[in-house]
Amino acid sequence: MNCGSVKDVRIGSDVILYGWARYIRDHGGKLFIDLADRYGIVQIVFEGETKKRAEEIGKEYVLKIQGKVKRRSKDAIDKDNPTGKIEVIVENFEIINKSKIPPFEITEEKEKYLPSEFLRFKYRYLDLRRRKMLNNVLFRDRITKAFRKFFWSQDFLELETPFLIRDTYDASGSRTFLVPSRIHKGKFYSLPTSPQIYKQLCMIAGLGNYFQIVKVFRDEDPREDRQPEFTQLDLETSFKDEKYIQHLIEASIKYVFKHVLGRDLKTPFPHIEYNVAMEKYGNDKPDMRFKNELVDITDIAARSDYNIIKLIAEKNGKVKAIVFDADYGSKNAKLNEKDMLDLVEKAKGWGLKGLTWLYFKDKGIRSKPESIAKSLESVSAQLIKRLHPKEGSIILIGADLSESVLLAGISKVRRFVGIKIGKFDTDFAFLWVDHFPVFERDELTGALQPAHNPFVAPTEETVKYLDTEPEKVLGKRYDLVLNGLEVGGGSIRINKPELQYKILKKMGLSDEEIQKSLGFLIEALSYGAPIHGGIALGLDRFVAVLAGQDDIKDFILFPKTKKNESPLDNSPDRISDKRLMEDFNIKIEKPL
Ligand code: AMO
Repeated sequence: MNCGSVKDVRIGSDVILYGWARYIRDHGGKLFIDLADRYGIVQIVFEGETKKRAEEIGKEYVLKIQGKVKRRSKDAIDKDNPTGKIEVIVENFEIINKSKIPPFEITEEKEKYLPSEFLRFKYRYLDLRRRKMLNNVLFRDRITKAFRKFFWSQDFLELETPFLIRDTYDASGSRTFLVPSRIHKGKFYSLPTSPQIYKQLCMIAGLGNYFQIVKVFRDEDPREDRQPEFTQLDLETSFKDEKYIQHLIEASIKYVFKHVLGRDLKTPFPHIEYNVAMEKYGNDKPDMRFKNELVDITDIAARSDYNIIKLIAEKNGKVKAIVFDADYGSKNAKLNEKDMLDLVEKAKGWGLKGLTWLYFKDKGIRSKPESIAKSLESVSAQLIKRLHPKEGSIILIGADLSESVLLAGISKVRRFVGIKIGKFDTDFAFLWVDHFPVFERDELTGALQPAHNPFVAPTEETVKYLDTEPEKVLGKRYDLVLNGLEVGGGSIRINKPELQYKILKKMGLSDEEIQKSLGFLIEALSYGAPIHGGIALGLDRFVAVLAGQDDIKDFILFPKTKKNESPLDNSPDRISDKRLMEDFNIKIEKPL
């Protein structure tokens, strides 16, 4: 019996319950306590002698009670609580443990008094007692179990790959955590940024098809939807192509939707080529809940008298516009002038130097101040023809000498405004982005580097550019995007040692570096490596989006703060000089 299922027993039954004293209300003759466990919350009532004894019970005390289930009177029914039709009259009880007064209210109500993130993380075990957090934990558990069931049903092996590995040439574009060895003083293991190399080795070992729900570690700069350790649903297949892997993931997500959300998800998901996504939406993870596309107006800008964009257009920069039906100026307006001013500030934070906003009213382009629309007057007919604004449309224009800066900034503007206006075609918009370039250039040095990891197989059509125009080489790589967030990524891998070697050389590694860092993989590839490929879903992110929430931290039991710290155990922390020296022969020269 538990605090949730007690509602299902017959009225008058004797029950024994364990739980935490969440709310305590003393009504003179009676003491009411809401007793909570992970299954629910039930009202327990102390009367007479037991009440006297119960008066010492404080918030979050752990209780064992024995009592009788009673139907509540009509006026006392709590409709918001599944156990709200009954209560338990306590006949006997035991205080199993006391509790200090919690540092914040463990409230079941709306999060009016949500404590700071620091406090929540410091006392995470109390934060997790809040119903919202508990529900997140339970939701994640259901999704994890559903994925497992699906992959078991497909006869995938559930295998574990090692955590203590060599520090290889970066396999994910992020930095690694190092672990010093006590036995091999001066030597280090590295924690995996993903199981990538080892899952490939499993395929070479003949262990296809495999999956694993696994923690991975990336020492990256903190960002909104990133954590230094997070969970991947990782898989790899042998003798299969991209289509198979994409269909498999679609089928697994369809299964999760059906069994966890009770919804039928439409598959297959739509596809877009990487280049097209960049051109139409400005980034490789467009939010397809709305269709608004970027429109290039560089040529029109160059012919206008609006100097800010005109000069950029004349200097070979780019000017892009995007239109939203916002009913501007009407009583149904989705955006008002203040929203627009706030947006301009936000856009600066996203790297744009500014953002011009116009609106369409009485068949004409208007602006605040009017001077902007005036300076665009000579080209306004061309703008209208290209942008097709409607009455009340907002037109946003960004310009920059660097196309990548412009696209990065304006694609964020697109997503922000799209969400704010909220005219969604669907609440879960999945999208495959296919054929990413294999290489990208480092903006500072101009050097070629892997656009994903260095193991992505080039497409048959573009591999010929490897020696002449490597940037034209496209990979058999695909990302899965959900509501504008990258929730997964994978590829078909290189399975020929010579090609793997060549690609690493192109990425600027010397023979010695290749040999040292990835020689073991290249050697393995030379012992009969099958065609193989796979994908990893970012489980934390996936679960958060499915729950309709943004913050992945709310779906991780013990997350790190924005500074990658854990206030709970105060990590990372210094290690004593003595231990560092004795165990690892490490000396910190100058503690920072
Ligand atoms: P990738 O690096 O794209 O691919 O990672 C897979 C997915 O993991 C999620 N993700 C993160 N989630 C939370 N915090 C982070 N710091 C973080 N970084 C990434 C994203 C991403 O799509 N080995 C390849 C997979 C493969 O090719 O099979 C890999 O790791 O949702």
